[in-house]
Amino acid sequence: MKFFIDTADLNEIKDLAATGMVDGVTTNPSLAAKSGKKFLDLIAEICAVVKGPVSAEVTALDHVTMMKEAAVLRKIASNVAIKVPLTPDGLKTCKALSDDGVMVNVTLCFSAAQALLAAKAGAAFISPFVGRLDDVGTDGMDLIEDICTIYGNYGFRTEVLVASIRHPMHVVEAARLGAHVSTMPPSTLRQLFNHPLTEKGLKAFLDDWAKTGQSIL
Ligand code: E4P
Repeated sequence: MKFFIDTADLNEIKDLAATGMVDGVTTNPSLAAKSGKKFLDLIAEICAVVKGPVSAEVTALDHVTMMKEAAVLRKIASNVAIKVPLTPDGLKTCKALSDDGVMVNVTLCFSAAQALLAAKAGAAFISPFVGRLDDVGTDGMDLIEDICTIYGNYGFRTEVLVASIRHPMHVVEAARLGAHVSTMPPSTLRQLFNHPLTEKGLKAFLDDWAKTGQSIL
């Protein structure tokens, strides 16, 4: 499973990229606004740090303007994935860009039917939002299971990019279901490293080692 981080905070991206665990980055207009930076500069800076796909979202609602925005965004770097919303115009844009060899991430997916449309439009990634589905009392992971099954049935090459992840078990469950990518906040990626028994065990080992008075170096 690939790990993307869902943030526009460059310091966080640099810090986590150094762990070797970051395969890509997803941003959205809310995260970009929070960064306080100029959007095009921000995407360029992220692309310079992470070589994998960096999602940059269009903000137009109509196909013609989406295409114009995508033309600007795709020039920033070869690893930019154009993010479009799951709307008729977004999918029309997805199809046109995908036919032209551009990576497209279709975002704001909340149903298996929508995911099927995105795959037919040639999306490189479909982003189902599990956390937001959980928030309204449905199980977001049921959607991941459905999409993985449906894509498997037809051999669609669209990668399932599990988004709106809130905690480590979302990542584990997504991996169990065979999703290709999890995009998560930096805090969740850091949580993946932790287990109290690891800390406890390490402390005990090092306490015993200290008693020997030895040093490896
Ligand atoms: C994914 O691309 C989205 O930016 C993101 O996962 C949304 O997560 P949220 O529901 O926590 O805002």
